[in-house]
Amino acid sequence: MINVGTIKKDFPIFKNYKDTHGQSLVYLDSAASSQTPQQVVEAMNDYYFNYRANVHRGPHALSVEATHAYEQARATVAKFIHAETKEMVFTPGATLGLNMLVLMLEKFLNLTPHDGIVVSVSEHHSNFIPFQELAKRTKAKMQLIPLKGTELDYDVAQNLISSKTKIVAIPLASNVLGTIYDVQRIIRQAKECGAVTIVDATTAIGHVDVNVQTLGCDFLFFSGHKMLGPTGIGGLYGKKDIFAKLQPIFSGGGAIKSVSPEETIYRDSPMCFEAGTPNIAGAIGLAAAVEYIESLGIESISSHVQDLVQYCTESLSRIPEITIVSEKNEQKNIGIVSFVVRDVTSMQVTQALGKQHISSRGGYHCAMPLVKTIDTAGVCRASFYVYNERSDVDRLVAVLKNILYPNESLGENKKQNWRNLFVRKS
Ligand SMILES: Cc1ncc(COP(=O)(O)O)c(C=O)c1O
Repeated sequence: MINVGTIKKDFPIFKNYKDTHGQSLVYLDSAASSQTPQQVVEAMNDYYFNYRANVHRGPHALSVEATHAYEQARATVAKFIHAETKEMVFTPGATLGLNMLVLMLEKFLNLTPHDGIVVSVSEHHSNFIPFQELAKRTKAKMQLIPLKGTELDYDVAQNLISSKTKIVAIPLASNVLGTIYDVQRIIRQAKECGAVTIVDATTAIGHVDVNVQTLGCDFLFFSGHKMLGPTGIGGLYGKKDIFAKLQPIFSGGGAIKSVSPEETIYRDSPMCFEAGTPNIAGAIGLAAAVEYIESLGIESISSHVQDLVQYCTESLSRIPEITIVSEKNEQKNIGIVSFVVRDVTSMQVTQALGKQHISSRGGYHCAMPLVKTIDTAGVCRASFYVYNERSDVDRLVAVLKNILYPNESLGENKKQNWRNLFVRKS
């Protein structure tokens, strides 16, 4: 059971915001980046203040301690996704992790114009553009699994994936619709066809149990900053036998066993994929975020967020000018309510909400292929996490109603301001 009152005390931003702005913050933008509890910042500070040194590079006490903490962090994060430690590579984030993987797969798979790459229309650009570029370079055919309502169209997926398909990449959950997809179903089929499978867990991780064993994927990636961790750190999971076959795309210190003028011999995974000094504090902070999430319990987080999705979906559905576009079944929703307001652009709504201390996001959410099929002016998104409560939804609804129906209590000047914000969509 989540106690938001207690949890909020761990997130100094809520008090600090109120002290600075005189109003409490309603933070409904965790799908873009979550807030950070002080336990995470303290873990990073501890490294910087008490045992800062480089890792894997020296036998002196500080380096030994830093190396131990960094590798302990890897073990914690690996366990969180049910992976082995050597299957867990720290990356600067989801985008760079996936780009690195795509470059390694390009070499490994040696794609030709006869080969296929299957992704979905529901991808974040990070899991879309690298494949589009790969397809351009290799002339492989990139195909998209379309949507059926808020779900992926699994029947079409079945027809698209064939023995020609070399890569299948899909998200565990949509960062726009909130839908938790039946990724296992697609992975099963892709495996039968011998394709490499990649899962973008960036929206889902920290909200539901992410289990690479039950998913059965070859690769999975995510960012730390959407799961209460710091920015600039993420994870790339790779099944150990396939990781062992990949050639690192980046080379340098830390990744190698030996170097001679003629030849370089790389270390085993994961070290061979982490050339250069890594984000040590970031890894330690990410592990602290995992520990924080585990202390709350992933099941409790899921049901807390589902309650908010259900309450928000229901509340917004009562406003005739609003159309909900996200997954309405909260059991299948990761914690996102997206909507369109009739005659008003998503950016105008988001801007107006921001003025009332409600942080949300409008626009394309880095998922243009999907969002443009819903509304060319983008969609508004409220995303929920551990520090949100029903009163946040009440404030969202109250402000939206004030925007839509400026009432007498606002006074003439305020009413005028609201109206000025709203240039109607043409
Ligand atoms: C589903 C999804 N995938 C990938 C990314 C990219 O993450 P990052 O910007 O941290 O690299 C995001 C970020 O918004 C996302 O929502």
